[in-house]
Amino acid sequence: MTTRYITTPIYYLNGEPHLGHVYTTVAADVLARYWRLAGARVKFLTGTDEHGQKVAQAAEAAGENPKAYADKMVALFLEMTEKINASYDVFLRTTEERHHLAAQALWKKLEDAGQIYQSTYAGWYAVRDEAYYEESEIVEGRAPTGAPVEWMEEASYFFRLSAWERPLLDYYEAHPQAIAPIGRRNEVLSFIKGGLRDLSISRTKFDWGVAVPGDPHHVMYVWIDALTNYITALGYPDVDGEEFQEFWPESLHLLGKDILRFHAVYWPAFLMAADIPPPKRIFSHGWWTHDGEKMSKSLGNVVDPFALIDTYGLDSLRYFLMREVPFGQDGNFSEDALIQRINSDLANDLGNLAQRVLSFAYKNGGGQISSPEEFSREDRELLAKAAHLHEILHNDMDSQALQAYCRHIWDVVGEANRYVDVQKPWSLKKSSDPQDLVRMGTVLYVLMEVIRHVAIYTQPLMPEASAKILDQLGQSERTFEALKTPLKAGTPLSEPFPVFPRIA
Ligand code: MSP
Repeated sequence: MTTRYITTPIYYLNGEPHLGHVYTTVAADVLARYWRLAGARVKFLTGTDEHGQKVAQAAEAAGENPKAYADKMVALFLEMTEKINASYDVFLRTTEERHHLAAQALWKKLEDAGQIYQSTYAGWYAVRDEAYYEESEIVEGRAPTGAPVEWMEEASYFFRLSAWERPLLDYYEAHPQAIAPIGRRNEVLSFIKGGLRDLSISRTKFDWGVAVPGDPHHVMYVWIDALTNYITALGYPDVDGEEFQEFWPESLHLLGKDILRFHAVYWPAFLMAADIPPPKRIFSHGWWTHDGEKMSKSLGNVVDPFALIDTYGLDSLRYFLMREVPFGQDGNFSEDALIQRINSDLANDLGNLAQRVLSFAYKNGGGQISSPEEFSREDRELLAKAAHLHEILHNDMDSQALQAYCRHIWDVVGEANRYVDVQKPWSLKKSSDPQDLVRMGTVLYVLMEVIRHVAIYTQPLMPEASAKILDQLGQSERTFEALKTPLKAGTPLSEPFPVFPRIA
C-alpha cells in the first residue's frame, strides 16, 4: 500500500497566525486529502515551535512566563488549523515530553558518533530568524533578511557540519528529486559548495529550550530541537518501530523559501550523522506579498485569514491560494484577485455548470440520473477527458504541482460548459421528436458523469463545496476508486442549490 508522510513547518508562537501559515497548512492538507482519496495511508503532521529566544522574548514582552504564554498562543494555532479544515493526524508541540526525549535522544546519538564538541561561539545572531550569520553577510548592521543582529559570545556545543559538505553533495546528486523546485535545489547546492562551517547548537544565556543531556547549563539551539519534531511524531528514537519504518521513507516536508537552508542543509546532515536517511523530498514554496508589498506588522498590512474566511468562505480561499500562484513561486495577494477568482472560476465556470445541469436534470429527468443511450463522438471525447484526469492529476500531486492540479480540472470544466452550449439539452427538451428526449437523457448523463469526476477531484481543494455537489448528485462513494465504475443511472438526485454565489 502506498504511504505518504506530509509535514508543515512547526510555527513559532510569537504572534498570531497569518496568511503564510495558512498557506503551507492548506497545501499540506490538499496533498493529504488527495492521497487518502487515492487509497494511500497518510500521516499529516503539523504543530508549533515553542522554544527559543524569539518565543521567550515575546513571552517576556507579554509579561508572562514562556510556558504560560505558549499555552495561550497555541490555542490560536489550533483554532487556525481547525478553521481551515486541515485534516491533520498529529499536532505536535515542542514542549511535549515525548519531544524533549526525542530531541535528547538525537543529541546523544550525535554525541556518541563523535559529531559534537564543545567550544565558544563568537559571531552574529538574529533572534527574529533564530539564525547565525557570517560577518560577510551583515549589511548595515542587519542580516540579509533584514533582521537586526546582535553580537554573541558564549560557550557552546558545535555540530561538525563541515564534515558533511561532501556527503550532502553526493546525496543530492544521487537524489535529484530531493529538493524542489529545481531553482531552490540549485540554491542549496551552491550554498553547500560555498563551504560549510561547524554549527553552534546550544545556548547558555537563557533556559527556554530542551536541556542538553548531561549539561543542563545549556539548552539546545532551537532549530535542532525544532527539526527533530518530524521524527518525534514517528516515535523516534524507536527507528525500528512500525510508524518510523512505514512513514519516514515517504517523507515530504513543505516549507517556505526562508527556511530552506535549515531543512536542506542542517537537517539532512543531522540525520545522516545519526544514521537516518534524509527526508525523501523537501518542497520549498514562495512568499505572498499583499498588494505588492511585503507583509509586516510594522506596515500594518498583514492579511488576516480569519476575516477573509468569514467574508468569502473557506473553500474559496483554499481554492484561491492553490490556484493563483504556481506552487514554489512568490505571489501577490489582493482582495480584488480573490473576488475575481471566485466569480470567474467558481461562480461562472464550476458553479454554473453544476447549477444549470443539476437543476435541469432534477426538473426534467424525473429527479434521478438519466440512462444513457448510444454515446456520440462528442460524448465519448468528453467522457475520455474526464477519465484521463486520473493520470494527469496523479502526476500533478506527485510533483506537488498544486496550481496545475487546479488548471487541469478546470480544463475539463471548460470543455463541459462548451459541450452544454453545443448540445443544448433545453432545446432537446422542447422538441416534439421522441428521439430528442432520449438524446437529452444521454447528454445529461454525460454531464453528470463529468461533474461527478470534477467534484470528486475538487474534494482535496474544497472539501465542503465538493461534498455539496456530490450530495446533489446523490453520490455517496467519493474516493477515486469509485470513478472506476460508471455513474449509475436511476440514482436519485437531491434538490439542487447554488454552491458558489457570485460576489457583488
Ligand atoms: N518555527 C520555524 C519553522 C520550524 S520547522 C522545523 C518557522 N516558523 S514561522 O512561524 O516563522 O514560519 C512558518 C512558515 O510560514 C515558513 O514556512 C514561512 O516561509 C511561512 N511564511 C511566513 N510568511 C509568509 C508569507 N508572507 N508568505 C508565504 N509563507 C510565509 O519558521
